[in-house]
Amino acid sequence: MKGTVVSEVLTKYDNSKDRLVQILLDLQEESGQNYIPREWLEEVSQKLDTPLTKVYDVATFYAMYNLDPKGRYVIEVCKSAPCRSRKAETLAQSLEKLLSIKMGETTADGLFTLQHTSCFGACDISPAIKIGEKVYGNLNEDKLAEIIRAYREGQK
Ligand code: FES
Repeated sequence: MKGTVVSEVLTKYDNSKDRLVQILLDLQEESGQNYIPREWLEEVSQKLDTPLTKVYDVATFYAMYNLDPKGRYVIEVCKSAPCRSRKAETLAQSLEKLLSIKMGETTADGLFTLQHTSCFGACDISPAIKIGEKVYGNLNEDKLAEIIRAYREGQK
C-alpha cells in the first residue's frame, strides 16, 4: 500500500530529524504548487515526534519555503539599491507585461509567481532575477522574454 506523501519523503530520509531542512524542501517540491501545506507540517511533527513549533520555526526561518501556494516557478526580482539603479523596476514592469500579472501575483495557469526580493548577491550582474535557485543577470527585455519562453516550453 502506498504511504502518504509525507511518509514517503520521511522514509527517504530515514525519518531523521536532522534532515528536516531537506525534508521540507522535498515536500514543497511534491506539493506541485511550490508550498508546504500546513497539514503536512503537522504530519511531519507527529511522525518525527518533534514539536510543531519547531517544524514551523524551520519552515518560516528560511525564505526558500512557502506556506501558501505559489506558481511552479517563483520569479524573484531584486529590489535592492544596486539593481534598482540598473533598471530593476523596468524589468519588473516587463515581467508584469509578459506574464499579465502584477508583482505578488500568480499566473492563472499556476506556472509563475512574481515577487520582489532583496539582494541575493548577484549585484555584479544586475539587474538580476532569480527563478528557483537559478540566477539570471545583465538582463534586458529581450533576454527576459527568451527566459520566460524557455520556462513555458519546459526547457529550463
Ligand atoms: S543588489 Fe540586486 S542582486 Fe545584489
